[in-house]
Amino acid sequence: MKDFRQEYGQYAIVTGASSGLGEEFARQLAAAGVNLILVARRAARLERLSAELTRSHGTLNEVVALDLLEPGAVDELMRRTAHLDVGMLIASAGVALAGPLVEHAVDDELDVFTLHGAVTLRLAHGFGQAFAARGRGALVLISSSIAAGAVPFQANYAAVKAYVLSLGQALHYELKSTGVDVLVLAPGQTETEGLGKIRGIDFDKMPGGAKMSPAKAVSAALHALGRRAVVIPGAMNKVADALSKHLMTRGAAARMYGSIIGRALTDEARSEA
Ligand SMILES: NC(=O)c1ccc[n+]([C@@H]2O[C@H](COP(=O)([O-])OP(=O)(O)OC[C@H]3O[C@@H](n4cnc5c(N)ncnc54)[C@H](OP(=O)(O)O)[C@@H]3O)[C@@H](O)[C@H]2O)c1
Repeated sequence: MKDFRQEYGQYAIVTGASSGLGEEFARQLAAAGVNLILVARRAARLERLSAELTRSHGTLNEVVALDLLEPGAVDELMRRTAHLDVGMLIASAGVALAGPLVEHAVDDELDVFTLHGAVTLRLAHGFGQAFAARGRGALVLISSSIAAGAVPFQANYAAVKAYVLSLGQALHYELKSTGVDVLVLAPGQTETEGLGKIRGIDFDKMPGGAKMSPAKAVSAALHALGRRAVVIPGAMNKVADALSKHLMTRGAAARMYGSIIGRALTDEARSEA
């Protein structure tokens, strides 16, 4: 793995650091000697993680407890970190909904759309601009292995993850000449607190074998950073992506996802469908 501190700067901002993939990014970056700015809403968890990482790795961490859905949150994050040598931004804060879209409150779907779409855009724009001005830096955006096509019962989530994939892949090209590396991590099912919170789907009924560990997904991302635009960790996830992109029409892929996820809907979601 590269020397991230040498290559990009002293600090990495990790959004969504209070659990799941974000927490794992924080752990692996701290182990590599990078100081952290930990962002999420649950301040107590961030404080605990910060203290633990300082004890284990000697990193100097800061906690910024923020609801990224609040207006002005990204500007506030930029203001509060402007005095630090920030060289990496990992945008891992996220929420997901599953089940028939019309049965969900539209405001809940809008939160999914805003957090993955508008907030990711603001983070990529703000920190992309700052990193380009200093001639080095790294942006890591989190899409999903289901971002290649239309996905019934995760309709809005998959659509906004397609946006993240497209945005990141294009920025990888745009920012290359400025010295800024951009990577999109597109994980499949990963064993996180967030996956466990998704109510509409019984993920144990989904094909694809065991869920990946966050450690494996994050280490694939950190290995690919600076080398590739997109990383889909895991052979099964790569196969599913290739199948829906290259071997099927978009319509056929949507029907395939609809049928697979339809069979894995929870009883509650099924009664709504
Ligand atoms: N797990 C999977 O199978 C999987 C697969 C593909 C893609 N992903 C993507 O990976 C990313 C991380 O997901 P995860 O599985 O690690 O979920 P997770 O364990 O629930 O972590 C999500 C993080 O986002 C933070 N967050 C949520 N809403 C926020 C808000 N409004 N403001 C600030 N922080 C907020 C949460 O912290 P607080 O609650 O403390 O704010 C938490 O730290 C997401 O983009 C997700 O879509 C996950």
